[in-house]
Formats: sequence, C-alpha cells, structure tokens
Amino acid sequence: MIRRFIPSDLEEAAEAFCAAFTSAPWKEKWTVELAAARISELTSSPQSVGYVLVDNDVVKGILVGRVLTYLFGTEYVVDELCIAPDVQHKGGGTELLKYAEKDLAKDGVVAMALLTTSGYPTHKLCLKNGFAENKDVMFMFRPLDKI
Ligand SMILES: CC(C)(COP(=O)(O)OP(=O)(O)OC[C@H]1O[C@@H](n2cnc3c(N)ncnc32)[C@H](O)[C@@H]1OP(=O)(O)O)[C@@H](O)C(=O)NCCC(=O)NCCS
Repeated sequence: MIRRFIPSDLEEAAEAFCAAFTSAPWKEKWTVELAAARISELTSSPQSVGYVLVDNDVVKGILVGRVLTYLFGTEYVVDELCIAPDVQHKGGGTELLKYAEKDLAKDGVVAMALLTTSGYPTHKLCLKNGFAENKDVMFMFRPLDKI
C-alpha cells in the first residue's frame, strides 16, 4: 500500500533507507540515526511531499521530494527514493512513482526530476517510468576547505 508520508513514519522510513543504502550497489556507511536526520530534514520544509510503501504494516520504502517553482510550472524534485532490500524487485519502486505521479498531477505539478548514478537500478527504473535522460546535465561537487 502506498500513502503520503507522515511524521510518525520517520523511524521505520529511516530503517528502510539505511537497509537500502548500506546494501549493494551503494554500500554506504549509513546509520539509522543519520538516515532519520536526513529524512526529517527533507520532509519538513513547506514544499516537502513524501510517500511511503507500507508492507505488512511496516514502512519499507520512501519517495521524498519537494514541489518547487520552475519556469513552466511546479516540478517535483526527488530527493530520495528507496525500497528496503527484503522487498525490492516486487514492484514497490514503480508503485511509489506511479502513485506520486497521479497525486502530484492532481495538485498541478507538471514534471518530476531525479538525480541518480548511471547504470544503477534506479536508472533503469526511471527509464521504464517515463523519465528521459538529459546528457547535458552534469552533477558538480566540491568539498569546502576547513577553516
Ligand atoms: C532502485 C529501487 C528504488 C527500485 O525499487 P524496486 O521496488 O526494487 O523496483 P521495481 O520492483 O518496481 O522494479 C522496477 C525496475 O527497476 C529496475 N530494477 C529494480 N531493482 C533492480 C536491480 N537490483 N538491478 C537492476 N535493475 C533493477 C528494473 O528495471 C525493474 O524492472 P524489471 O523488474 O522489469 O527488471 C530499489 O532497488 C532501491 O531502493 N535500491 C537501493 C536504493 C537506490 O538505489 N535508490 C535510488 C537512488 S537515486
């Protein structure tokens, strides 16, 4: 079942996030506390809209993002999308995207944008769900000098 994220989902959402991103192919060093901090930040702005995948009464996946003004209307900028490894590949990621698409369109949102790593599972998932690649866009990053 998919529904909107509510604040009481935070702990289970953080567990799902942590399980997803500490597993292959990401293998990142998340803790549940760090994940909870990030999800809390991403879901607490006035523009935030989040969705959860609930499996057997437990939150097992999240889609969180912000509805932001852009040139041609508002667009949903996805900040995080993940499904816990024990329920991956059962259609949950697809369901989250499809639910959000309908729900956001009702509010007049005209597009969705998402950053991911080329060749990773989300890349394929997005292509199967109506996203197109923009090869001109480059993700730029730099650490800041310590003062
Ligand atoms: C990417 C992710 C959200 C997909 O969710 P999911 O519920 O497993 O996806 P679905 O079952 O809806 O699968 C849809 C499609 O996604 C792709 N996909 C999903 N898991 C995949 C995997 N392990 N390897 C390759 N492609 C995969 C496939 O194209 C799949 O379609 P198919 O079953 O016809 O091959 C989930 O695997 C995940 O959370 N992964 C770790 C975290 C992550 O990568 N988040 C996104 C960061 S931008």
